[in-house]
Amino acid sequence: MTADNAIEALSPQALKMIKNNFVIGLGSGRAATTIVKLLSHYIKKNKFSVKAVPTSLQIKMEAEKGGIPIIEADQINHIDLVFDGADQIDAKGNMIKGGGGALLREKILISIAKKVVIIADESKFVKKLNRSVPVEVHPFARNTADIQIRKYGGKPHIRLLERGYPFVTENGNIILDCDFGEISNPKELTTKIIGIPGVIEVGIFPRPDIIYKAKENGKYEIL
Ligand code: A5P
Repeated sequence: MTADNAIEALSPQALKMIKNNFVIGLGSGRAATTIVKLLSHYIKKNKFSVKAVPTSLQIKMEAEKGGIPIIEADQINHIDLVFDGADQIDAKGNMIKGGGGALLREKILISIAKKVVIIADESKFVKKLNRSVPVEVHPFARNTADIQIRKYGGKPHIRLLERGYPFVTENGNIILDCDFGEISNPKELTTKIIGIPGVIEVGIFPRPDIIYKAKENGKYEIL
């Protein structure tokens, strides 16, 4: 069973948290896409009237395909539930996100959501976070932020597209993927990096309310 199939197998259970009239935040990436595909059927079957706030054009297009009503973040005053994926999750539930570049909008929605649900396959789980941390940076601070991140022990690499062009986020910024080795204090590191002028957001996220860990045998754990 692939990671995608494993996520698909648990998604109907996760969808049961939705109630009529919910405002639902949609993260970006594969796990969020799987949820969105099933969400479309789920709300039709239950005749639910929900609104979805997308965190990227990628997930907005998926929601549109499924006929899910969309609302923008500046038109809502609350979010009932966020569904999202993660790039890495440590033993305490701290996460690294932003592999697809949507970290800023994901963090904004997650910060006000009443409930945050993360769905990830078992390959994403580690004892301590150790993959590169995506840091969204204003282009003006490309070098200055790089210098300061290095002072905190990071090795930043500007994210490039396949043909060498810089990746530009939907907010017009660049991403520095920063290797800090093993991260023993994710909260402290986040505070340091977010304090660097020109840094817009850091791809380290605190523990969500619910984590679904999809296993390759089609089973799942709720953490
Ligand atoms: C988007 O920028 C990310 O934060 C995604 O949520 C994260 O990369 C997980 O994506 P997958 O579900 O595709 O692994």
